[in-house]
Amino acid sequence: MNKLLLKNIGNLAGAYPVAPGRLCGEAMNRVPELKDAWLAIEGERISGFGTMADTPAEDDYGQVIDVCHGWVFPAFCDSHTHLVYAGSREGEFRDKIAGLSYEEIARRGGGILNSADLLAETSEDELYASAARRLRQCARGGTGAIEIKSGYGLTVDGELKMLRVIRRLKKDFPMMEIRSTFLGAHAVGRAYAGRQGEYVDMLISEMLPAVAEEGLADFVDVFCDEGFFTVEETARILEAASRYGIRPKIHANELAVSGGVQVGIAHGALSVDHLERIGDEEISALRESATMPTMLPGASFFLGIPYGKGRQVIDAGLPLALASDYNPGSSPSGSMRFVSSLGCFKMKLTPEESLNAVTVNGAAAMGIEDMGAIFPGAYGSVFLTDPLPSLAYLQYAYTEPLIRRVILKGTSI
Ligand code: NIG
Ligand code: FE
Repeated sequence: MNKLLLKNIGNLAGAYPVAPGRLCGEAMNRVPELKDAWLAIEGERISGFGTMADTPAEDDYGQVIDVCHGWVFPAFCDSHTHLVYAGSREGEFRDKIAGLSYEEIARRGGGILNSADLLAETSEDELYASAARRLRQCARGGTGAIEIKSGYGLTVDGELKMLRVIRRLKKDFPMMEIRSTFLGAHAVGRAYAGRQGEYVDMLISEMLPAVAEEGLADFVDVFCDEGFFTVEETARILEAASRYGIRPKIHANELAVSGGVQVGIAHGALSVDHLERIGDEEISALRESATMPTMLPGASFFLGIPYGKGRQVIDAGLPLALASDYNPGSSPSGSMRFVSSLGCFKMKLTPEESLNAVTVNGAAAMGIEDMGAIFPGAYGSVFLTDPLPSLAYLQYAYTEPLIRRVILKGTSI
């Protein structure tokens, strides 16, 4: 078993004696910092940490890395992405610059359906190659756990193709924790234009059983929003998925106050995501639940829509996760550092809250218990930075290439 020792860590951030679990309200505003520290990783997992005054004998370790007073952080946990996609959509980016909204582009047959057309023409191998390239970029940016959705297939074959690509990514990137989500209800496939109800029937009677039979999905998702799927359709899909034991993560309240938060909570959703538009009713419903509110500031930034009220959610005593939403139409970036900076700039989260939102709470939003923080038994997934004057510098200096090295499950990548 490989034994790795990181020594001369200027500051070890997010280290706990035991797993902190999800962090809510005021508890989000604290990140433990251990100055002048060491961290030991045995095989894939963290075996211990402490201060340099008390360093273990280096001879016991197969590899010793001198961090030279840089910081060590737990790897990012990105709980919402669509990084398997074909081609790109910078043509729509031009339309957006010229003044069209996301909804207008979608109504003209662009948007998600544009990506679905491209995906239909793309082989599984090509799709895999581009997704693997994006995933590698995410890992180099410090991401160690990630959720990836289908939703650009919108036919039985297309959805299976996407989910099989994710299965291959899981196999080929064992140093990352990857979760797959079936998002057949992302938009109505072209063959069903004007027949949304029949599309949902087909999704329940054909897509879902095929996905479940191959064990391709950890979670199910529905785009429950104005112009996409209704609360009733969402409930039907979630009930059907629950018969296969598949838990929901929901797209809700991006374009309107959709009722998506409540329907997700009623069906035991692990998370409800987007939430650019929520009010007191959604906050009260979340308070009564174990569902993780998740916001995607990269989509607000790119689309020029309102930011989620992350500050209000935390002030209400709730937990909050932030994720990248990496996708070709509303957030063509998997940078979790940028997401965390936006959390501070645009949602007025403190640097500590924002870091917890992209680590501890991101892991919880995927049901992953052994990542998101540094504690004995957790996966040894961390990123190393240059020396920083303080934790806030990570989000403040948002374009400085501060990350020197990424170690995922004990392996330098
Ligand atoms: O999370 N809102 C729905 N889905 C994606 C966008 C997908 C696309 O435009 O391709 C999102 O923002
Ligand atoms: Fe999304």
